[in-house]
Amino acid sequence: MAEKSNKGKSGKSWGGRLAAEPDAVTAELLASLDVDRALWRYDIAGSVAHAQMLSEVGLIAKSEFAEIKQGLLSIAADIEADRLEMPAELEDIHMVIEAALIERAGDAGRKLHTGRSRNDQVALDLRLWARDAIDDLRDGIAAVQRAFVAAAAKYADVVVPAYTHLQRAQPVVAGHALLAYAEMLQRDADRLADARVRVNVCPLGCGAVAGTSLPLNRTRTAELLGFPRIARNSIDATSDRDFLAELCFGCALLGVHLSRWAEDWILYSTAEFGMIELDDAYCTSSSMMPQKKNADTLELIRGKSATAIAQLTGLLTLLKGLPLAYNRDLQDDKRFVFPAVGAMRQALTVAEGIVATTKFKTERIAERIDEGFPDATALAEYLTGRGVPFRRAHQIVAALVVRAEKAGQTLSELPLETLREACDKIEDDVRAVLGAENVVKRYAPEGSGGRKQLGEQLAFWQRKLDLHAL
Ligand code: ARG
Repeated sequence: MAEKSNKGKSGKSWGGRLAAEPDAVTAELLASLDVDRALWRYDIAGSVAHAQMLSEVGLIAKSEFAEIKQGLLSIAADIEADRLEMPAELEDIHMVIEAALIERAGDAGRKLHTGRSRNDQVALDLRLWARDAIDDLRDGIAAVQRAFVAAAAKYADVVVPAYTHLQRAQPVVAGHALLAYAEMLQRDADRLADARVRVNVCPLGCGAVAGTSLPLNRTRTAELLGFPRIARNSIDATSDRDFLAELCFGCALLGVHLSRWAEDWILYSTAEFGMIELDDAYCTSSSMMPQKKNADTLELIRGKSATAIAQLTGLLTLLKGLPLAYNRDLQDDKRFVFPAVGAMRQALTVAEGIVATTKFKTERIAERIDEGFPDATALAEYLTGRGVPFRRAHQIVAALVVRAEKAGQTLSELPLETLREACDKIEDDVRAVLGAENVVKRYAPEGSGGRKQLGEQLAFWQRKLDLHAL
């Protein structure tokens, strides 16, 4: 019995409508298989759920659902083993899978697309993909945070300069500086989790633009795919990609945070700063200069933020002029969002390794910690404790700094008489205030850079990240 083809002359499912074929270059323009094949798992999961719902509402027979499901699972196994033929002229992964299903399941396969369009199908696949991408990014972020927390605990006793304007400002315990990155990353994780709420909406059943006259049970399909709710409006659901733009923004800001950290550590690893030693596994050397140990991995992480930022602006540009509803421009959304997520996944994985293996040069840091008068603010605050108005105290200490700088001394090296000449409120107990080591002992309120506050922060992160032994 000659089976009637589902395809027109072109081999495409809509071939019945069109008389002419695109030439090779045009076909290449139309195709997205090179990028959307990454969606295959989600496409199959969505199709199985759709078919199950179709069978439950009686639009297809139970036996047809069984055939469809079996066909889709065998296609999944073939794709997994990289043995499914994917003819480029079928354009995208959705058509490739449907064509393979029809080959395997015949008329049952031809019923899969009942009440469905590629427009709601691709929106669904992208939402399923984005859900996993977010979960994955959040795991990666947590791993980097754990590495920062472990380093913060390891170097709890080291006092380092905190900088403003890249000039030495006030001393802090190293852990405090390290946990600043954990804070930024937590907001990145929270932002992605928040975006996930808007990703996690099922568009299936919205069809091409207006829905369908068939009695689909949309809530059931959503439930089968683990979505807590369905899209309210078919036009919106098939045509917006704001959920991808939010994901791209989440990546871009995460990239910016990683880039700032990378910049810090590139600087700290130089001879000029001499604060950290990167593990050789994360460095490269030079083809000409035998002594070189370059922080290339940090530089590339810094550079990956450019990818994420560029993809965000690219996606927004793609979306900005689109009339309602679906337009083919949207096919290229994946070309922006996939690389943005990919760059961040890669950056996070390497960042975790760098943070876990970098060593602080604690002796060198200690030798130089009092350079640059990092205890000046503490001295001014000591004076306020003795009744000197802060603005006056600021002037007194500024004059002492000028004097010490001329003499090539630190504030704690100045004799008590010199200090008292500047202000007779200064007593011998000032010795317990001067010097970076003393300063970090005296920080008072929550959130300051001292040991006490570090203890509180470490306890918080231990709970938050479910860390047992630090
Ligand atoms: N590959 C397409 C995409 O990613 C699928 C949707 C095609 N829909 C259409 N009406 N031509 O957007």
